[in-house]
Amino acid sequence: MAFPTQVNIVEVSPRDGLQSEAVFVPTAVKIELINRLSASGCSRIEATGFVSPKWVPQMADHTDVYSGIIKYPGVHYPVLVPNLPGLEQALALGVKEIAVFTAASETFTQKNIHCSIEESFARFKTMFARAKASGINIRGYVSCVLGCPYEGDIAPERVAYVAARLYDMGCYEISLGDTIGVGTPLKVQQMLQAVAKKVPLSALAGHFHDTYGQALANIYASLMLGIRVFDSSVAGLGGCPYAPGAAGNVASEDLVYLLHGMGIETGIDLTLLIETGHFICQQLGKVSNSKVSKAILAKRGVNHV
Ligand code: HMG
Ligand code: MG
Repeated sequence: MAFPTQVNIVEVSPRDGLQSEAVFVPTAVKIELINRLSASGCSRIEATGFVSPKWVPQMADHTDVYSGIIKYPGVHYPVLVPNLPGLEQALALGVKEIAVFTAASETFTQKNIHCSIEESFARFKTMFARAKASGINIRGYVSCVLGCPYEGDIAPERVAYVAARLYDMGCYEISLGDTIGVGTPLKVQQMLQAVAKKVPLSALAGHFHDTYGQALANIYASLMLGIRVFDSSVAGLGGCPYAPGAAGNVASEDLVYLLHGMGIETGIDLTLLIETGHFICQQLGKVSNSKVSKAILAKRGVNHV
């Protein structure tokens, strides 16, 4: 299988990266993070989540964040939306793309969005009708595609079923989430082969958390099978409030370094991206999870925090 000349990265740090932060990150910091990501050349940035502030307080300032960011021409700023009330709030702001989410695990779905997998599809049906009528693009997430914190192993056929339902309902792209980062390359390929029987590869994306340090290997394995879109988070920030112990997403800096090193274009300026990662780490008082960032900043004699 030939590698592509270009790969699309969906930067999820403003949402996935920050949602589990215990201390509220000031709205101005979130806005600056997104503006810096745009300036770094990111073309798809998941800006915030219109989820319930009772359950995920960190996203409570979604309206101010979305309204406050500079919308760079040609850059997409999707937002995470769990239900119709969230969609209505997003539409009122002129959002052009939403991301909905369900899972391949029944228990995780109950904990995350308080309904069964089938009930989540019923919710989406109403939401999609409303969104399509407003000309909104819809991306779908399937969580727990390689394992669940509550149920353990997940059958690839289960993932394929959920992904196909989302695709058939009208999602233009399905992001397959290794929410707890337990996947390894051959398991990733088996899962992708099962999903690809029901959803075109061109409509699939990989979303790898790096709990066991396998994310880049899993991305390489996915590239070999033809996946061309990957989610990542600057500084490797991230986690899910309903996946205890799960580490952040693959670091965007590491992903960009890998892809550029393979001669694959991303449109992203690695130097600016590293500075953006450094900025948010300083704001959060955290050390970056990006090995590439650490190595390059160390060469410049810059401390991480
Ligand atoms: P619920 O409490 O069961 O909802 O939450 P409800 O419909 O019973 O409503 C209860 C109250 O919440 C009502 O208010 C509603 O108005 C309000 P009250 O009458 O009590 O005053 N409410 C809302 N308020 C603001 N925005 C809303 C909203 N909806 C209801 N949208 C719900 C159900 C789905 C809303 C909730 O469980 C929720 O927001 N869940 C989101 C959880 C979340 O954000 N998880 C993390 C993101 S997913 C993830 O990280 C995985 C991913 O990265 C991929 C991967 O790694 O696998 C995507
Ligand atoms: Mg995630």
